[in-house]
Amino acid sequence: MKSGIANRLLWSWRPESPREANDAIVKNMWLHWFPSKVAKRSISFSYSFWLGTISAVLFVILSITGLILMFHYTPSMERAYTSMKDIDFVTSYGWFLRGVHRVAAQLMVVSVFLHMMRVFYTGAYKKSPGCMGNRPSNWIVGILLLMLTLALSYTGYLLPMDQLAYWAMIIGANVAASVPFVGEQIKMALIGGTIIDQNALLRFYVLHCFLLPIFMFLLMAYHMWRIRKDGGLACVDQISLRHGNGVASPVSTKTYSLLGITSGMDIRAQTLSQIEEKDLIPSSPNLVRRIWLVSLGTMVITILLAIYIQFPLEAPADPTMAPNPAKAPWYFLWLQELIADTTFTILGMTVNGAFLGGIVVPSILLALLIVVPYLDRTPTSNCGVWFPRERLTQNIIFTVMVLLVITLICVGAFCRGPSWVFYWPWEQWPVLPVNF
Ligand code: HEM
Repeated sequence: MKSGIANRLLWSWRPESPREANDAIVKNMWLHWFPSKVAKRSISFSYSFWLGTISAVLFVILSITGLILMFHYTPSMERAYTSMKDIDFVTSYGWFLRGVHRVAAQLMVVSVFLHMMRVFYTGAYKKSPGCMGNRPSNWIVGILLLMLTLALSYTGYLLPMDQLAYWAMIIGANVAASVPFVGEQIKMALIGGTIIDQNALLRFYVLHCFLLPIFMFLLMAYHMWRIRKDGGLACVDQISLRHGNGVASPVSTKTYSLLGITSGMDIRAQTLSQIEEKDLIPSSPNLVRRIWLVSLGTMVITILLAIYIQFPLEAPADPTMAPNPAKAPWYFLWLQELIADTTFTILGMTVNGAFLGGIVVPSILLALLIVVPYLDRTPTSNCGVWFPRERLTQNIIFTVMVLLVITLICVGAFCRGPSWVFYWPWEQWPVLPVNF
């Protein structure tokens, strides 16, 4: 990479001295949140696959394209669909902008999920003996980020107001309504009434374009800040443990508060000073160059996919004509499948799958994910290591869960026909009368 053509084209910065490399970080408004040196292992591709960074870059792409789309989209029942059509066919490069936004949204769901898997398999949610920070809390922040990513995708889904959007929304609202005692109230709060109309559209628009992105931005900032305060990525702990170094004492004169939100000196920072020089490299150019490459790679892939994948709108939303089958967005298909699988009749009574499969099972899964760092009692010394032997059981259980979710998504996507009847992908669906 030192003298390659890619290096010359993309990056020519070569600091002459450690001082110059350090200055490049601390004097730059954007770069000064990076440490001046990083552990070599923490910027290696094989440790993190840079999935967190990829998720962050996708969020930036979504914010920029979303902002431009807002100039062209009208959040009204009468105009929403036609303004989307205009974006596709009238606005210059509107189809491209919408394509990039849509591809980035789907990629972000995938990358955030893969990032969570990576963190799990490396046990990076644990508080290791080499770490004075609080990784378990950053794992919980991560779960919130995953929820927010899904919420952003879902709220964006309604905005085009085509058949797909409308009926996906109905499915979501009905699941919310199935919560015992307060279901109808939750549905009312979600869609602003009993039917999907202007109120629902406006709510989803405000959530999608303002509240959720702002919340996401703040939480992402907190997530990154926590990583620094936890002493960098978990693999760094391994290096200090290897050298027999314990934990650095907190500097008594320094506080680690974030805008005063977190007060006091109790959030201690592990310092890189415990790590030997040979395990460290200057952030500039090493970390910065990799961030550039990851960002450019993410952008190129998103753009190429947006050019090659078409996202045609369906017919305008029609409350009187339900498509059959009406399917949720792919990342929620496992829930829709769970709902179908847990709806059954016993002794003449129908068990409501919307509540069991749509609320109870996902809530249990969510609760399990949240408490995972506190349930995991395996030795903390393997924190930051891929697939350590001691965590075999945890990894197997987690993998089975992930495979189950993926299987349910595939069944929902490829094997469900009219009235949610199971068909193999190669089987022909029967032709049903409209509105069957
Ligand atoms: C919008 C979503 C997210 C963004 C932008 C994000 C960003 C990042 C970044 C940039 C890193 C540094 C390492 C890397 O690039 O992989 C990181 C690390 C981390 N993330 Fe995330 N993250 C997100 C979601 C999540 C989720 C869903 C979880 C877990 C449930 C999570 C838990 C963690 C933890 C525990 C670390 C420290 C890992 C280590 O020490 O090895 N994050 N995140």
